[in-house]
Amino acid sequence: MRSFLLGVIATLLIFTAAGYVAVSQGLVPANADGRPPGIEMWAARTSLHATLRREAPQGAVPIQATDANLVAGVRLYGQNCAVCHGASTSKRETASNIAIGLYQKAPQLADHGVEDDPVGVTYWKIAHGIRFTGMPAFGAHLSDTQIWQMSLFLNKMDKLPPEVQKVWAKVQATPAPV
Ligand code: HEC
Repeated sequence: MRSFLLGVIATLLIFTAAGYVAVSQGLVPANADGRPPGIEMWAARTSLHATLRREAPQGAVPIQATDANLVAGVRLYGQNCAVCHGASTSKRETASNIAIGLYQKAPQLADHGVEDDPVGVTYWKIAHGIRFTGMPAFGAHLSDTQIWQMSLFLNKMDKLPPEVQKVWAKVQATPAPV
């Protein structure tokens, strides 16, 4: 029994030491221009889904999908998100340098949208960001109402009322050159 326990402890120590050497010698990739290891992608995805199941708000959306709220969502998106997630005509091939330089490339939401996701899930992602990707957290700097406005806009992006669509069509993905 004693030698069995010693064996377990020795194995744990070897794994810990190997992990330390891998990190301290830069064997764990620190670059953003390579494909992340499969285990990192699996862990990030699995943990995100479990967290969303536990934490994403599930009840009714606390604001109405009025034109005023949707237009506010479009404007906030233009200021905070379009640089990574693109404008109404953006496709993967026309994504900004920032969007394609990230190592989880930011999806161009007009092309690959999140209309199918529950609004509360999108709300959670905007408020808290997504670890292991470049998706920032906006909860500390935008109000709850502003985050719901953007979440509603993203949920209805492919079926916006005409007045809202007009404003959406004007959003630019990259700032105009000076
Ligand atoms: C610096 C670039 C960047 C900015 C700015 C940014 N995002 Fe993201 N976003 C990302 C990346 C990268 C991902 C993760 C993509 C993945 O997991 O494959 C992401 C993921 C998302 C997702 C989930 C997409 C999906 O398919 O599940 C949503 C929704 C989203 N962002 C909305 C927003 C909104 C709204 C804003 C502005 C308030 C914003 N993002 C700002 C980079 C950005």
